Amino acid sequence: MQLLHIDSSITGAQSVSRQLTAGVVARLKQTSPGLSVTYRDLAAEPVPQQSPSILFAKGGVAVDAEVVDEVAATETVLDEFLAADIVVVGAPMYNFGIPSQLKAWIDCLAVAGKTFSYSATGVQGLAGGKRVIIASSRGGFYSAPSPMASLDHQESFLAGFFGFIGVTDISFVRAEGVNISPQQRETALAAALAEATTLKAA
Ligand SMILES: Cc1cc2nc3c(=O)[nH]c(=O)nc-3n(C[C@H](O)[C@H](O)[C@H](O)COP(=O)(O)O)c2cc1C
Repeated sequence: MQLLHIDSSITGAQSVSRQLTAGVVARLKQTSPGLSVTYRDLAAEPVPQQSPSILFAKGGVAVDAEVVDEVAATETVLDEFLAADIVVVGAPMYNFGIPSQLKAWIDCLAVAGKTFSYSATGVQGLAGGKRVIIASSRGGFYSAPSPMASLDHQESFLAGFFGFIGVTDISFVRAEGVNISPQQRETALAAALAEATTLKAA
């Protein structure tokens, strides 16, 4: 079984989402010792942003070697995702959405004919059959009935995107309100890590 572990936080050792992804992956490895893990740190090694050159190259226009490498990098990202049975995504809320580094990774996955297709009857997701676990961290409270719920463009975007490409098994391990107070940060982190210890790889 293949697990893809993604981190995207820019806050290094202070990161809540990195602690959550580490907890989730450690737990899944414990319950399934044969798990093969691929790791990507999108903050340390960003994947290429979509660009006119990449778009032209994918359309068959001749481009220089640097762009050829960028296209290859985006394809490697997609292949890693397609090969994974379980994907653990560290997803902090930054400015009500996801980090731009994580968005660049998502942009590599949204490929017609690979992860979704359009047909006469509408959109068909092609990337079902895998499990996605989102490790979500946010400074404030956005879970309903919070009055801030309508500003959640982080979890709602991720749920929408993975649903669009056919993933039906998507769950969230969440620490929120972490910037409200040190005590709330500790409580939210401890509760989310405790939740992680109940997960099973299969
Ligand atoms: C650049 C930046 C933007 C942020 N924007 C928001 C925000 O819009 N709403 C919020 O509740 N918290 C916001 N926060 C707080 C983070 O969501 C919180 O610190 C969370 O723990 C980030 O995850 P991380 O610790 O893994 O980086 C922001 C933090 C940073 C660094």
